Amino acid sequence: MSAKAACRPVITVDGPTASGKSTIARRIAELYGLPFLDTGLLYRAVARRLLDEGRDPADAEAAVEAARSLRPEELGRPDLHTEEVSQAASRVAAIPEVRAALLEFQRRFAEQPRGAVLAGRDTGTVVCPDAPVKLFVTASVEERARRRFEQLRRRGEPAIFARVLEELEERDRRDTQRAVAPLRAAPDALVIDTTHRSVEETLELVRRHIEAWRARSCSSHAPPEAP
Ligand code: DC
Repeated sequence: MSAKAACRPVITVDGPTASGKSTIARRIAELYGLPFLDTGLLYRAVARRLLDEGRDPADAEAAVEAARSLRPEELGRPDLHTEEVSQAASRVAAIPEVRAALLEFQRRFAEQPRGAVLAGRDTGTVVCPDAPVKLFVTASVEERARRRFEQLRRRGEPAIFARVLEELEERDRRDTQRAVAPLRAAPDALVIDTTHRSVEETLELVRRHIEAWRARSCSSHAPPEAP
């Protein structure tokens, strides 16, 4: 691998629902001026399409067809974050052919010359196993349910804490126990538990980790500058 390739910042951020991974990933992308892909949006957009068409999210044939014909603009739809879509997304994400159909798009995104930040469940294990910086962001299930509950309340959506917790546990189960690309930390990922950490504290930890990698790998030419 050339020195330049070794220094290309591909940063993967995986973790369970409501662990704070997307917030951290987005902030890191901003800090280093890198393109950002929230890969969960791909599964959500496929699920949305099936729900719009009145199809069952477990209908593998329809889900694969939706995944293969997905258009990038569908990732910007404003209605991808309802509870109905969340549950349906974790169902379509368990279908191996759907995952295969979405893999190419994610890999192309990661191959951009200036690097990229990708957040999801398998970005460090399957999508970019060679990424030089991998993070696994997690938190206790109660804390994640609390965050999700607050988020729903802020949006004015009716929510019952016990129900939020139950749905989160159900999604965790599906995401960690599926046969293909189950949620797990890559062996070389930095695992960060955010249960008792603020976003700023987590960011500082991540920034130090990235700086240490840059110091090891990017000495011979200019790496991307954090402001
Ligand atoms: O991160 P999220 O909640 O937006 O993800 C929605 C669903 O998609 C979630 O149940 C897990 C699945 N997913 C996945 O299987 N692999 C990814 N890389 C990203 C998301």
